[in-house]
Amino acid sequence: MRVVKKPLILLMMVSICTSLSACAVNTKKYTSGIKEIKVGMTLYKQEDVFVSSITKNLEEIAKEKESEGKYKITINILDAKGNLNNQNNQVDKFIAQDYDIICVNLVDRTAASVIIDKAKVANKPVIFFNREPVEEDMERWNRLYYVGAQADLSGKMQADIIINAYKKDKRKVDKNGDGKIQYVMLEGEQGHQDASIRTEYCIKTIAENGIELEKLADDTANWEGAQATTKMTNWIKNFGDKIEVVFSNNDAMALGAVQALDNLNITENRPLVVGIDGLPDALSAVKNGSMVGTVINDSKAQASSIFNIAYELATNGNVNSIKVLEKRKYIRTSHARVTNDNIDLFLENK
Ligand code: GAL
Ligand code: CA
Repeated sequence: MRVVKKPLILLMMVSICTSLSACAVNTKKYTSGIKEIKVGMTLYKQEDVFVSSITKNLEEIAKEKESEGKYKITINILDAKGNLNNQNNQVDKFIAQDYDIICVNLVDRTAASVIIDKAKVANKPVIFFNREPVEEDMERWNRLYYVGAQADLSGKMQADIIINAYKKDKRKVDKNGDGKIQYVMLEGEQGHQDASIRTEYCIKTIAENGIELEKLADDTANWEGAQATTKMTNWIKNFGDKIEVVFSNNDAMALGAVQALDNLNITENRPLVVGIDGLPDALSAVKNGSMVGTVINDSKAQASSIFNIAYELATNGNVNSIKVLEKRKYIRTSHARVTNDNIDLFLENK
């Protein structure tokens, strides 16, 4: 067996335990004497582009706060890979290692009670985010929080993008001039609050504006671009240029639909594609015209809301200073519409 010398072991440990990485130091005192705040985060699926943009922002915010020199801030982000057992085990680990706050992006939003019960016994506050537990679960304890977006508003804004395009130039939307908009709808995961509510409000808002819709097809593509490309390819084969609008519950799927159109070399008479999230690639697509618009889902504001709650809880033990908390537990960030008219404003802030 090779003998590893002590200094080398030390060096290896230092390189593994960088300040914001997955380092499980079971102590509240950092060697230099400043206190450590430990935040454990479990994600339903790290490869989800929007969710990973929240974590990226969170790490940046934490780093900046840490540079003030008051606290060492450790954010340990684990991937549950879509598996509920993994997620429960990750929460157990955070509790066993005495993390101050546990942030949970639920694998299954209807199954939060196991996590809540564990956290309550250990007295570790939980910040759920992006995947909202049912209200009944949120009532189980007064140290539960939720940070997310306003699904109804994003659906409404998505509708507004199409309504405005229609009002500006009917023939660019209703291409066959039959007085109706023929559309397909790419939906997010079944049972996700952002999927069902966005779809409902999008369709409802267009109808309320007196514009007739005709649904050609709808299906879930589970928030994923590749699945959306497959669905859209079939729809193009079935409906051809009858499709006038592609509504998508998120940008990853909208970009998947654009990919399907590109793969089939459709250059003329393309449907208008509209998404939600404001991913950098979607903003570029709005700029180059392959998407007609998107709705910003503010991952920065969501990350900073999560951070503020975690920081207040870890340093003051309460969240009394956070004024935007609804019912003392909810923060829902706002949205913004993006189309070719205002895209440059958003590209600047990318
Ligand atoms: C939504 C977002 C989707 C996906 C989903 C995951 O809010 O718009 O792109 O990230 O959350 O829960
Ligand atoms: Ca039509």
